[in-house]
Formats: sequence, structure tokens, C-alpha cells
Amino acid sequence: MFITFEGPDGSGKSTQLRRIIRVFERLKIPLLTTREPGGTEIGDQVREILMNMKNRSMKARTEILLFNAARAQLVETVLRPALAAGTIVISDRFADSTLAYQGYGHQTPLEPLRQLLAFATGNLVPDLTLLFDLPAEVGLRRRLSNHDEWNRMDDYDLPFHERVRGGYLALAAEAPRRWVTIDASGDADQVTRTVVRVMIDRGVLPADAGRIPVSEIA
Ligand SMILES: Nc1ncnc2c1ncn2[C@@H]1O[C@H](COP(=O)(O)OP(=O)(O)O)[C@@H](O)[C@H]1O
Ligand SMILES: [Mg+2]
Repeated sequence: MFITFEGPDGSGKSTQLRRIIRVFERLKIPLLTTREPGGTEIGDQVREILMNMKNRSMKARTEILLFNAARAQLVETVLRPALAAGTIVISDRFADSTLAYQGYGHQTPLEPLRQLLAFATGNLVPDLTLLFDLPAEVGLRRRLSNHDEWNRMDDYDLPFHERVRGGYLALAAEAPRRWVTIDASGDADQVTRTVVRVMIDRGVLPADAGRIPVSEIA
């Protein structure tokens, strides 16, 4: 089972993933988690190039290829082996981020991007994708007000981030069996309850997971 968390920066993906890791630990279910870009030694070096505010002159195509270079390494060295061993894998971002950011955000045609993604991932597609949806300015405001690290991707303008949000919603509407859209604008505990419920409904977690108090995993 390959699960991905998608949505804009500031939507709470990493916060929720930390909590879900504790649910798996409590239930003693093996889980492998990773994040994009990065998740491998080579990928983390590429991440630094992509996120570094020094690199504001980066062109869209450069950005696309760097993300997918890191992704190819992650798929071959981490994701495929874990999935082949039957481990549940959750990745904080994956290929859909390329369609949302570089496709809808930078307005790059989607078809060549889809071909590139098929090449970079060897056609690996998630079984379940949770979209943490919220208005673009709310995500950006959360990052600013919490003094989160501001990266080169955050620095694109608000219309860019609004296109990203619209792109995610379009992708989710295209493949409704794979995607579950979660309202990420509420408080973190409420979002956690929703994530756990979706994972129970999709057979990822057993029903007992719903009885773990959020206070014990937050
Ligand atoms: N539901 C929420 N309500 C308010 N703030 C939140 C919520 N979830 C996360 N945050 C805060 O918003 C910021 C971004 O959250 P994070 O989990 O890092 O998002 P992402 O990984 O999607 O960028 C962090 O400072 C985090 O503490
Ligand atoms: Mg994050």
C-alpha cells in the first residue's frame, strides 16, 4: 500500500504525518515514511538546491527535472523495495506535486509532465492520496506566523499558489477513487481525526485506531 500526502506548504502534511506515525507505532504496524524532495542521500542534496532562496533564477524546466531526479532515486532505492516487502509506505508529497506546482502553478502543459513522471517513477502510482486542502493564503500565513523555514517554492506569488490549489482539486476530481480531499483549514486535532477515519475506511488502519485519543498522539 502506497499512500501519499499532498497539498500546499502550510496545509499540515508533516504535522499529520508525525501523528499518524505514532498511531502505527501504538498498533505495532510496520510503516515506512519519506518526504519529497529528498528521502535519499542524493535526493536531500537535490532538495537543498530546489529550496535554497539563492536559486531564485531557476527556470521551470530546471525545477521540473531536479524534482524528478530526486524522485527517481527515491522510487528505486526506497519505495520499490519497501513496497515489494509488503510494507505500508507514506510519502509526504510525490508525483502529483509536480502536476500541481510545475503543471498548474507554472502553467506547463500536463501531458509532457505526465510522460516525465511515468519515466521518473517507473509508473509507480499511489494507492491512496490524501489532499490537505485549504486556501493558499492560509497556508502561507501559517508558515509566516509560525516562523517556519521560508523556501524558494513558498516565495512564488499568491496567484501561483492559488493555481496550485485549483490544480490539486482538479487532479482529485479526475481520479476520485484514489484521492480523498480533507479540509485542512480546521484545527490540527480535527484534521487528525479525519485522517485516521479515512485510513480506517480505506483499510489502511484497523478500527481500533479510531479509539486512540488524539491527545496521546499529538
Ligand atoms: N490545523 C492546523 N492549524 C493551524 N496551524 C497548523 C495546523 N497544522 C499545522 N499547523 C502549523 O502550520 C505550519 C505548517 O504545518 P506543516 O505540518 O509543516 O505543513 P506542511 O508540511 O503541509 O507544509 C506549522 O507551523 C504547523 O505547526
Ligand atoms: Mg511539510
